[in-house]
Amino acid sequence: MRLLVTGGAGFIGSNFVHQTVRERPDVDVTVLDALTYAGDRASLAPVAEEVTLVEGDVADAETVDRLVADADVVVHFAAESHNDNSLSNPWPFVRTNVVGTYTLLEAVRRHEKRYHHISTDEVYGDLELDDPAKFTPETPYNPSSPYSSTKAASDLLVRAWVRSFGVQATISNCSNNYGPYQHVEKFIPRQITNVVDGIRPKLYGTGENVRDWIHVEDHNTAVWAIVERGRIGETYLIGADGEVDNKTVVELILELMGQSPDAYDHVNDRPGHDMRYAIDATKLRDELGWTPRYGSFRDGLAATIEWYRANEAWWRPQKDATEAKYAQLGR
Ligand code: NAD
Ligand code: TYD
Repeated sequence: MRLLVTGGAGFIGSNFVHQTVRERPDVDVTVLDALTYAGDRASLAPVAEEVTLVEGDVADAETVDRLVADADVVVHFAAESHNDNSLSNPWPFVRTNVVGTYTLLEAVRRHEKRYHHISTDEVYGDLELDDPAKFTPETPYNPSSPYSSTKAASDLLVRAWVRSFGVQATISNCSNNYGPYQHVEKFIPRQITNVVDGIRPKLYGTGENVRDWIHVEDHNTAVWAIVERGRIGETYLIGADGEVDNKTVVELILELMGQSPDAYDHVNDRPGHDMRYAIDATKLRDELGWTPRYGSFRDGLAATIEWYRANEAWWRPQKDATEAKYAQLGR
């Protein structure tokens, strides 16, 4: 199989490429990545010999057309991915997430290629803390932020290209990922690297907000299950029953790093901050037989802390600029 992975130098995409090289030697991987602030060649360094990295933009129709023509399957991870950035400057989100997806869809349509679209549970908006409901593939779209609304728009383009043009596509909407190679702007790596640097973790607002955490390896085994066995035109929700509130995550990081569990600060809340996400992954489990490999969030988090401790050379170059941006926002 000739596989084109967009965004393969980012967090989830690079882990997907590592997993693919490790477990599927028959797959020939090409990565298309613009190497924005969030993409890093170093994330692919361990597999550099096995993978072709093309530096380019998913909204560049010529580059996309050439690479799609040479692929059998396209898995589209590339995106602007951080909510806080989308509140400060939404345009790159519209361009990459919407126009980029449109550009890929037109190419897979022309060349009749299999396409898998990576998306987020944030397209469904949020749930109340005491709501027994979880998101299902039938939940209506109700995105809150420029980030989640551009991801929702891109999902709807995929659905329309399937129905109107017969594009052979599937969609997955996953909950919050954690693991190696995640940019230090995101919640978990920000707090781990803060503790390493002697800075107190920063909790937005009250810290009651709940995220449904899944290890990135588990997200990626689910993506492979959908690429291989998913039904065309279907949406699969990916989650591993990992609901934890932010305050508990910070306390756990502090405990696992040998600090007092109350050694954190409350900072300004994020405008429009979604309260809770929760995934019902019944369809993925029952239809495709997927189960997560990571048993407990605590173990996965401990392993992630070890990874950041051992790989300071990878994250150190991002840290100061990231904290400077947060300082401007009072977060
Ligand atoms: P990331 O920000 O770490 O990586 C994004 C990658 O896309 C980077 O390598 C960046 O250089 C590249 N990119 C950005 N704009 C591009 C462009 N115009 N052309 C080509 N490449 C471009 O993001 P991530 O956390 O790895 O997320 C990957 C995908 O998974 C996204 O589609 C995101 O919406 C989705 N997702 C993320 C999470 C999560 O918890 N991180 C959860 C569910 C879904
Ligand atoms: P984030 O990693 O930005 O993911 P998302 O917004 O896609 O869920 O944030 C996860 C949660 O952590 C979210 O509720 C916001 C909160 N948060 C903090 O409390 N402090 C922080 O420093 C950051 C970056 C996020």
